[in-house]
Amino acid sequence: MHSLIVGKFPQTRLRRNRQKNWSRSLMAENSLKPEDLIWPVFVREESVEAEFASLPGVKRYLIAELLEEIAQISPLGVRSIMLFPVVAHDKRDETASEAFNEDGLLCQTVRAIKERFPEVGVITDVALDPYTSHGQDGLVMNGEIDNDETLKALERHAVVQSKAGADVIAPSEMMDGRVSAIRRALDAQGFSDVSIMSYAAKYASCLYGPFREALGSKDCLGLADKRTYQMDPANLDEAIREVALDIQEGADSVIVKPGMLYLDVVRRVKDTFKIPTISFQVSAEYAMLKLAEKDGFLNFDEAILESLLCFKRAGADGIITYAAPRVAQLLTKQRDHQKGIKESA
Ligand code: PBG
Repeated sequence: MHSLIVGKFPQTRLRRNRQKNWSRSLMAENSLKPEDLIWPVFVREESVEAEFASLPGVKRYLIAELLEEIAQISPLGVRSIMLFPVVAHDKRDETASEAFNEDGLLCQTVRAIKERFPEVGVITDVALDPYTSHGQDGLVMNGEIDNDETLKALERHAVVQSKAGADVIAPSEMMDGRVSAIRRALDAQGFSDVSIMSYAAKYASCLYGPFREALGSKDCLGLADKRTYQMDPANLDEAIREVALDIQEGADSVIVKPGMLYLDVVRRVKDTFKIPTISFQVSAEYAMLKLAEKDGFLNFDEAILESLLCFKRAGADGIITYAAPRVAQLLTKQRDHQKGIKESA
C-alpha cells in the first residue's frame, strides 16, 4: 500500500529542495516552452477593422501584417498557428457558401504562410460560424441545426483548406460523426497526411464572448446559443465518450476547451487515452487576466506563465493561447537570463 507519510519530521524537510534556484529548477516536475504553444490569430479582409475592444492587445491582421508577426515570433519558438478568418458580413449567408471559396480569405492566408514559412504548422478551424449569417457553427434547417447536412459542408470545407496547404484540420463545431466524415473526405482526395486535431470536448461556455466579437459572429448569433451541440459544463464522463469516439473515428490529437476551468477534463483525458491532448485557453480567460492587471489585481506576465504551467501540470501537451507571442518573449528572456548566469559562473 502506498503511504502518504513521506518520513519523519524533522529528518524529512520538504523545504530543503526549495532553497535555491538551481535546486528548484532541478526538482521541477513540469516546464513550459514556446514550442508547446499554438497561437490563435484573427485574419481580416480589408473592409474589416483591425481593432476591436474585447481582447486587449489582440488585433485582426491583414495577411501581409500577419506574415510580419510570424517572422517576429517563429524565431522565438512559436511554431504553430491557428487561423480564424474574419470575413466581411456581406459574404455571410445561410449556407456558409464562402467556406468553400478556394480563393477566399482563409485559403489565401494559408497559401501565403506556407509559401513564406513552410516550417510553421498551420492549423485551420473547421466550423461554419465565420461564414453563416446566423452565426451558428452548423447549417440550420427548419430552425434546427442539421447534423448530417452540416457534415457534408464540413467535408468540403476541410478539403478546401487542405488544398490550400493546411497541415492540420481542427473541427470545432461538435457535430456527431464529423471526424470520420472529414477523414474519409481527406483520404479520398489524396490528403491522407493532413492530420485532424478535433475539438473533442468542447463545452457550451460563457467564455467565448470576446472571440465572437472578434469574429463578428456575436450579433449574428443574437440571443441564440450553441447548447444543442456544445457540451454541458456539468459533464465529465460525457467528455470521455466524446474523446473515445473521436479517436475511434481517426483523430490524431484532441482539444479540450475552454482551458483553466476545465483542467480536470484534460487530466482525465490524458490519463485515459494517452493521446496528444491540447487545451484552449479561450478568449475570456485571456481577457480576464488582462483586465485584472489593468485594475491592479495581478501582474499579467506572472499570471499567464503560471496559468500555462498549470495546463502542463494537468497533462496538456500543447496549449492554444492568445498570449503566445508575449509568453515566447518571456520564456526567451528567462532562458537568456539562465544562460547568462551559467556563463558567468
Ligand atoms: C467556433 C469557435 C469558438 C471558439 C473557437 N471556435 C466560439 C464558439 O464556439 O462560439 C472560441 C475561442 C475563444 O473564445 O477563444 N467555431
